[in-house]
Amino acid sequence: MVKMRDPTSFLREEYEALVKSELDWKIRVLQGPSTPWCVVDGKKVLMFCSNNYLSLSNHPKLKEAAIKAVQTHGAGSGSVRPIAGTMDIHVELEKRLAKFKHAEASLVYQTGFAANAGLIPQLVGKEDLIISDELNHGSIIDGVRLAHGERAVYKHSDAQDLRRVLDEAEKHSPPYRRILIITDGVFSMDGDIAPLDKIAKAAAEHGAMVYVDDAHGEGVLGEGGRGIVSHFKLTRDLVHVEMGTFSKAFGVVGGHVSGSKDLFNFAYNKSRTWLLSGSHPPAVAAACIAAVDVLEKEPQHVKTLWEHTTYFKKAMKDLGFNIGNSQTPITPIIVGESGVAKKLSQRLFEEGVFALPIVYPMVAREKSRIRTIMNAALTRKDLDFAISAFEKIGRELQII
Ligand SMILES: Cc1ncc(COP(=O)(O)O)c(C=O)c1O
Repeated sequence: MVKMRDPTSFLREEYEALVKSELDWKIRVLQGPSTPWCVVDGKKVLMFCSNNYLSLSNHPKLKEAAIKAVQTHGAGSGSVRPIAGTMDIHVELEKRLAKFKHAEASLVYQTGFAANAGLIPQLVGKEDLIISDELNHGSIIDGVRLAHGERAVYKHSDAQDLRRVLDEAEKHSPPYRRILIITDGVFSMDGDIAPLDKIAKAAAEHGAMVYVDDAHGEGVLGEGGRGIVSHFKLTRDLVHVEMGTFSKAFGVVGGHVSGSKDLFNFAYNKSRTWLLSGSHPPAVAAACIAAVDVLEKEPQHVKTLWEHTTYFKKAMKDLGFNIGNSQTPITPIIVGESGVAKKLSQRLFEEGVFALPIVYPMVAREKSRIRTIMNAALTRKDLDFAISAFEKIGRELQII
């Protein structure tokens, strides 16, 4: 007799286990746009945790471009890119982005996740090695899991440890055909920047390929927000794949890779996520072009973002909060226990500041935190409002 299975009972059981251990996501709902003051679950709050660093999602040029593209090109693209879904605006976006990035070519994917999941597995085969920072983003991890090559990990942002792994790799017999080194540009839990200059130097000594995921650096780091390669003033013969997203500082959605024309030709012919999934609706492509345009013509947004970041970090540090070692507009407020982080987030929300707690397993158990993300559209008055709320509740919960 075959033992009868219950095909779906695990769905509820596993969900209930998550709820019991308080690891389930409690989804808050934005009622309206992601603006500095917005309505979340019916309450007017100051947005302090979105990735919309420059508030470009609300920029009139992006909104106008999206509306116009619907009128001229329709609501959808009708196909995947390689069949009938490449419109003139997709091509224009890639040209504009490559120019902005000072790269030979850029290729646009549906999302940053799709870029990592689609391209990484194609860059390495059975005879190759991928070397990854131990704290890389989940989309890189999934891309690496789909790859057939061997894998190694180096200590977080530790170029010395990377060198150790590279030296070890050279002892492999037969020698690895290719080595791919892959890292986040900005690590989103702590806001620290990968030492890409040192990584690229070590890679060059071994003929390894360098792939950087600059999702949180784009529109934030480098000249006019051109990203991490610009930040370190590196050349494209040292950093071979600069991957990024339109879903954060660019204020829209979509992923991309920039680099050589060879990379472009290889990537679009081989990435299954690019080949087998529908292309962006015209409104998305047009809004992304407008975002590139705004970054080129209105440098004030990036400048304000950094001024606000410096002001906020100083105020929080002066109050006695542990803000970690962030070098970017991501400022973690590290409080220790998960219960304290959750309570802090809840009380901040009641006082009108929206910032989510980040707890285990996303960070170590004793490093639970509130992760704040700065936004260029906030005013000094808004920042002072948030700082006062943090001060009041920080004292109430005896964090400071
Ligand atoms: C480092 C990193 N890479 C990739 C992604 C995925 O980007 P997208 O939202 O475009 O899929 C994210 C988004 O959370 C990210 O933080």
